[in-house]
Amino acid sequence: MVTAQRPRARSEVFYLCTACEATSLRWVGRCPSCGAWNTFGPSSVRSRSARPGTAAAGAAAVTLADVSTEAAQPLPTGVSELDRVLGGGVVGGSVTLLFGPPGIGKSTLLFQVLSSVAAAGVDVMLASAEESLVQVRGRASRIGLVPRHLLALEGPDLEEIEAAVERHHPALLVVDSLQSISDSELAQPAGSLAQVRACVERLTRMAKSTGVPLLLVGHVTKDGDLAGPRAVEHLVDTVLSFDGDRHHTLRVLTSVKHRFGPTGEVGIFEMRDDGLRAVPDPGPLMLGDRMAGVPGSAVVPVLQGRRPLLVEVQALLGPGTGGASRPHTLGIDAARANLLVAILACRTVVEVPEGAEFFVAAVGGISVTEPAADLAVALALASVVTDRPLPPDVVAFGELGLAGEVRMVPGAERRLAEAYRAGFTRALVPASTVSAGTGAGDAASLFAPAGMVVHGVRTLAEALALTASQAGAQTGPGTMPGWPTLPAPASL
Ligand code: TYD
Ligand code: MG
Repeated sequence: MVTAQRPRARSEVFYLCTACEATSLRWVGRCPSCGAWNTFGPSSVRSRSARPGTAAAGAAAVTLADVSTEAAQPLPTGVSELDRVLGGGVVGGSVTLLFGPPGIGKSTLLFQVLSSVAAAGVDVMLASAEESLVQVRGRASRIGLVPRHLLALEGPDLEEIEAAVERHHPALLVVDSLQSISDSELAQPAGSLAQVRACVERLTRMAKSTGVPLLLVGHVTKDGDLAGPRAVEHLVDTVLSFDGDRHHTLRVLTSVKHRFGPTGEVGIFEMRDDGLRAVPDPGPLMLGDRMAGVPGSAVVPVLQGRRPLLVEVQALLGPGTGGASRPHTLGIDAARANLLVAILACRTVVEVPEGAEFFVAAVGGISVTEPAADLAVALALASVVTDRPLPPDVVAFGELGLAGEVRMVPGAERRLAEAYRAGFTRALVPASTVSAGTGAGDAASLFAPAGMVVHGVRTLAEALALTASQAGAQTGPGTMPGWPTLPAPASL
């Protein structure tokens, strides 16, 4: 392979593709011109005077329109859900921080990225400061093949990582993890804020000068930020969060910051015995074990980033009575659930038992933080109190106000489309979403899937009246009296 010397100064070195002679100011793993991998090597140092317009000392401004975007073309990692989140792949010289709680699968994900790129015949490198190479090799065997082009380096020393990059010039470098590497020039221990910051600064400089894309792992604890990942977000190009419930198999990858594309893009994976598997359609995984027709269950299409995801929320009435205790919650904000119990008690005819002990949960390992889930949670609570199940093919979304009013939430059409795709044929949505100002029933302004029955509700009481009259009914479009079928959408 072509190896590169460390450039003396960024602007004095350019890189040349040995296959097609395309040039680039940055090293790139794959030639944007001819598509060949690893053909870029440093070429002769250009003298300043040989370049027109740069004879004078000091920095010169350039015409922005002439700046090439070649180096910003993303290189696919081969892990489809990650490429989707990154908008195509990693960009040469970019620094991406992947953070998440310990044990969620960060090392597994990045190992899969490394082996996927290495399988294409390109050298990639893992700097493992946290696990020994024997442990890494163990994980590798579990996941599958270990390509010859995957190089690995053990130990916490930042200088050694830099030297190895200079020597092998990999197409991709993974550092696992930020909290375990250290710059020996600093007295502070690995993992301290000063160390983490210094290491990220040095690694970022290295990525920019060599053009090697860098993926950094950072741990955060469940209950907040630790010295590290969040404190260095401003230093890196891209920040990805990897989350999920360790006891469930679903993992959600979200871009929090992305200099090369949109943020809020979401990738979904399933953790299996042989590594992470992309889940392009999470519906069956999320609702596969759902028991329709049981009181206390409701389904809400939530938005993760821009991606709709169907989540079942459940409520249970415990044996405890007396004392106004808050609901016990799992995957749902406790204060929010408390508020919904109060709204149900004060704004509807449902008789909530005095001091009732409620349990409220989002099922499937996804935390539901969106106010859009209010209506579904309140319906689940009402359903368990009245012991009447909701119709099995209904989804509901909308924020609840203290007056019991159902308020508009973003992304209605995306939510409806996902619900319909998963087989739900009826939806309760905020009346204002259906038609601003004209109230329930007039559905003319909302694009819903053809055949889906959508009803705008103004209040929780109205939603309850509708669902109560239909509890247990098997439906198709149009079987719920008074539910208008919407016109077919022009597009979704
Ligand atoms: P890991 O990637 O080491 O997590 P992190 O780097 O975020 O701390 O993975 C942690 C868990 O994933 C571990 O408890 C075992 C589990 N796992 C699987 O279930 N299947 C697999 O194929 C692998 C490699 C790990
Ligand atoms: Mg790890």
